[in-house]
Amino acid sequence: MEYNIAVIKGDGIGPEVIAEATKVLDAIGSRFGHTFSYNYVLAGGEAIDETGRCLPPETVATAKASDAVLLGAVGGPKWDTLPGDERPERALLGLRKELGLFANLRPAMVFDELAEASPLKAELIDGGLDIVVVRELTGGIYFGEKGFKETEMGPAAYDVELYSEEEVRRIARVAFDMAMKRNKRVTSIDKANVLESSRLWRRVVTEVSAEYPEVELDHMYVDNGAMQLVRNPKHFDVIVTSNIFGDILSDEASQITGSIGMLPSASLTNGNFGMYEPVHGSAPDIAGTGKANPLATILSAGMMLRYTLGLAEEADAIDSAVRKFLNAGYRTADIYTPGTVSLTTTETGDKVASFI
Ligand code: IPM
Ligand code: MN
Repeated sequence: MEYNIAVIKGDGIGPEVIAEATKVLDAIGSRFGHTFSYNYVLAGGEAIDETGRCLPPETVATAKASDAVLLGAVGGPKWDTLPGDERPERALLGLRKELGLFANLRPAMVFDELAEASPLKAELIDGGLDIVVVRELTGGIYFGEKGFKETEMGPAAYDVELYSEEEVRRIARVAFDMAMKRNKRVTSIDKANVLESSRLWRRVVTEVSAEYPEVELDHMYVDNGAMQLVRNPKHFDVIVTSNIFGDILSDEASQITGSIGMLPSASLTNGNFGMYEPVHGSAPDIAGTGKANPLATILSAGMMLRYTLGLAEEADAIDSAVRKFLNAGYRTADIYTPGTVSLTTTETGDKVASFI
């Protein structure tokens, strides 16, 4: 089969990690008889420099016309002084909204070989850790009404947290469907002791849970959830939460694995379409040094094969190539420990491709 992938290399280490992910996809192509055609499009800082806009309309059009989107990372100090809605990061919000990517899957798993990288005590992650944060991505305070007004306390600014029942229902279904393929547990995280929007969230998630009698549902307030993630991370299987809570908790969850350079993500629509990107950012400080870890982007390409292109065997081949890489003692700079073999970004891509 031939697949059209819109590719956004982005800024910082983005182009370097993307080059390795496409290398590995090409290896998949030769082994399984597929062709991946890459349509390179601009977004983020590079797009600002070249077109004056962080998300050129051609990028959205090409993305919509493609089978999936693969993205490196956007942003960097060069654009940090631009006003809020002209910053490179704004491109991500635009892509999410324009493409209808309401479901963000952020797995946080500890690879056995990298268990010692976790900052948590060994007994807390004993036997591995495998959590997926399902974050609502196109609603809530990120996209609610915002503005400025005069108050008794002087000039003020506001952002509204608003969720419709339907927005909660569809993300809850994604979480429950995911749990059915995993350990059948969903933890919904909200702030229902204070927020009206959270009380609606909790009620709707509970209603949806009736469609999934096999899945065990519990609810946590976000402050407690943040604490439980480091106190008893094995409690969690699938976490479902709002846009802003998911932003915060997915960073926390990624950090307990100790190796953010390993974590992929998927942002999905109701159908199969999706955008895939590493959880780490553009890391401008190490761009061009060969220290970037391309494994998160390679694993993101694997998620693309699994969730959008329906190529499960090919996706398994990527996951197992990454495991072989780790098992053979190869490491990138960020996960290096004495006694292992440190490889550069391109050497890592070559090695993983050779294991396909
Ligand atoms: C993320 C990022 C983005 C977000 C920013 C860059 C807009 O932190 O993908 O988690 O807040 O969603
Ligand atoms: Mn974030």
